[in-house]
Amino acid sequence: NQTTSFGDSVIHWYHQHGRKTLPWQQNKTLYTTWLSEVMLQQTQVTTVIPYFNRFVDKFPTLADLANAQEDEVLQLWTGLGYYARARNLLKAAKIMQAEYGEFPQDFDQVLALPGIGRSTAGAILSLTLAKPFPILDGNVKRVLCRYFEIQTWSGEKKTQDLLWQHAEKISPAQGIEYFNQAMMDIGSAVCTRGKPKCDTCPLEQNCQANLKGLTSQLPVSKPK
Ligand code: ADE
Ligand code: SF4
Repeated sequence: NQTTSFGDSVIHWYHQHGRKTLPWQQNKTLYTTWLSEVMLQQTQVTTVIPYFNRFVDKFPTLADLANAQEDEVLQLWTGLGYYARARNLLKAAKIMQAEYGEFPQDFDQVLALPGIGRSTAGAILSLTLAKPFPILDGNVKRVLCRYFEIQTWSGEKKTQDLLWQHAEKISPAQGIEYFNQAMMDIGSAVCTRGKPKCDTCPLEQNCQANLKGLTSQLPVSKPK
């Protein structure tokens, strides 16, 4: 309702409906969250699951991966596509092992690694350690464009900046690890591209697109 904050509504929804049993949600380490987030950057959850499991079986720790040969890593990646991700993964593992001897917990050190952008760095530290960093993947962008009725294309730099400002503002001080996972889950299961299920969405009462009947027009697509 109106008196419940954005964060509380989303966290409450997570405890009722959010995903909690994905393989990378069990026995989380910075390393396993990183691996899953990189796999999930361009690949669907159901496809990622067996790849993630095989990868962790073969390379259970950062040290195991840092000592791997590139062809072994690429072999485990076969079929996932976007092979630069696999090469960057190995590069980053070697850097971490050499520079820090472990996976760093400092945001700027994580962000500086190859293959890790602002959202992935935030996801790794928030989902694993509950550090209060926002995330902004494709699913979350769609939710925010609708909720805040953003009328410009998300490929524009100024739209991107605006989305990050909103993402920071809505991030709760407590429960960021649930909040961030819930925002991704809402984006993929509720606030779907085609026909969003606003009647089951925890944000429906304050969502501008829902209130104004604009869900089919938002987010706006790339201008021609
Ligand atoms: N996509 C990117 N990160 C994800 C996660 N942690 N869970 C589900 N989908 C995701
Ligand atoms: Fe998306 Fe509808 Fe929820 Fe708004 S109310 S965030 S449009 S699912």
